[in-house]
Amino acid sequence: MQYDVKDLHLAEKGQQRIDWARQSMGVLDLIRKRFAMERPLDGLRLAACLHVTSETANLILTLKDGGALVTLCASNPLSTQDDVAAALVRYHEVPTFAIKGEDNNSYYKHINAALDTRPQMTMDDGADLVSLLHAERQSQLAEIRGGTEETTTGVIRLRSMAQNGVLKFPVISVNDADTKHLFDNRYGTGQSTIDGIIRATNRLIAGLNFVVSGYGWGGKGVAARAKGLGANVIVTEVDPVRALEALMDGNRVMPMSEAARIGDIFVTVTGNKSVIRGEHFAVMKSGALVSNSGHFNVEIDIPALEKLSTKVAEPREFVKEYHMEDGRRICLLGEGRLVNLAAAEGHPAQVMDMSFANQALSVEYIKNYYMQLEKKVYPVPQAIDREIARLRLESMGIQADVLSKEQEDYLASWSEGT
Ligand SMILES: NC(=O)c1ccc[n+]([C@@H]2O[C@H](COP(=O)([O-])OP(=O)(O)OC[C@H]3O[C@@H](n4cnc5c(N)ncnc54)[C@H](O)[C@@H]3O)[C@@H](O)[C@H]2O)c1
Repeated sequence: MQYDVKDLHLAEKGQQRIDWARQSMGVLDLIRKRFAMERPLDGLRLAACLHVTSETANLILTLKDGGALVTLCASNPLSTQDDVAAALVRYHEVPTFAIKGEDNNSYYKHINAALDTRPQMTMDDGADLVSLLHAERQSQLAEIRGGTEETTTGVIRLRSMAQNGVLKFPVISVNDADTKHLFDNRYGTGQSTIDGIIRATNRLIAGLNFVVSGYGWGGKGVAARAKGLGANVIVTEVDPVRALEALMDGNRVMPMSEAARIGDIFVTVTGNKSVIRGEHFAVMKSGALVSNSGHFNVEIDIPALEKLSTKVAEPREFVKEYHMEDGRRICLLGEGRLVNLAAAEGHPAQVMDMSFANQALSVEYIKNYYMQLEKKVYPVPQAIDREIARLRLESMGIQADVLSKEQEDYLASWSEGT
């Protein structure tokens, strides 16, 4: 078996973390037990390009128990948990290609290694497998039955491919499931982004001006958690509806040109590029902490920061301190990559349980129905989405209420009025 991980001696610690995460992933565990009995994915070759974390390991083992032959590579050079990668290789014989801190070269070498297995299905977090297949490995496209995509940025890339008529196989957008973005993007990113900033800096959040760029599902979560810790939250947005929403949720709203002058901590979570750039660094307070929780490391213009600085120090792990000519210091966290995965452990298992239940069931759905699917981006079927919510509630011992017959009839009728 081929693999490339940091150190197989880390496997025992990795296995403990995988087991710990599994305890909080009740829905995925139910699917795993069914998959082990029914083997619905028997013989399916699947390449997965995901953040290699303990939660991801549980998804991979679920697919494997379902009969799939899974190869795993990292979807980000800084998010790999090396001990988890080691455990997947050593104890579970999953070909894994991921090393925390790998350079761009190794990153793409690993993605290519996963594609060398000639997968019939892809599972992406950021659409890197799909992009590489379409750009450089077109001869394999005909073998691919379909794919799944985990995150907003990946879905945007795929929708653009579909609209331009270049997407060559169907993809299910896991991100669009309610049981994904309403929980993972909001509560997962909210908590783990703050966790990453605190682990990297050990700063007290209370009383600081905390700037959140982007008030989508991720931004709402980060803003709410920062407020809960006593920060004065400032939101920057380009969409007027979301800017209004941010305002009415109790945040201050202003353009980055103003926020840059007063912010103590900055988090970008927009899926866009150059949200914080040279003109903003030029007016920031000394000691400002700048971080990103959006998918790619392009939200902060790091080359501009490098150009403005005369010296770079590394006072702590995951903190780079850029010294400006005028004596100010600006700290970049986690090299501008997803701070929650670079400096902390990513989302808690409870939310990844639902995201990855959507992944597992979407793979089964594509396996069963790929002949009927067009080369488009599809949502997760609603029945799957609702069932995952029901199972998650059940696993927490909580019951939702049910409609009475009278209520059902009332909601379905048009004749009853005042
Ligand atoms: N850190 C994580 O673990 C994690 C988890 C989920 C999603 N993501 C990523 O986070 C990013 C955002 O995801 P989301 O689900 O919140 O997306 P979303 O589409 O719900 O929200 C993005 C928001 O950013 C705003 N925006 C765009 N350009 C902007 C700019 N220049 N200035 C200010 N606001 C701007 C948009 O108007 C939108 O409201 C994506 O890249 C996604 O892939 C990261």
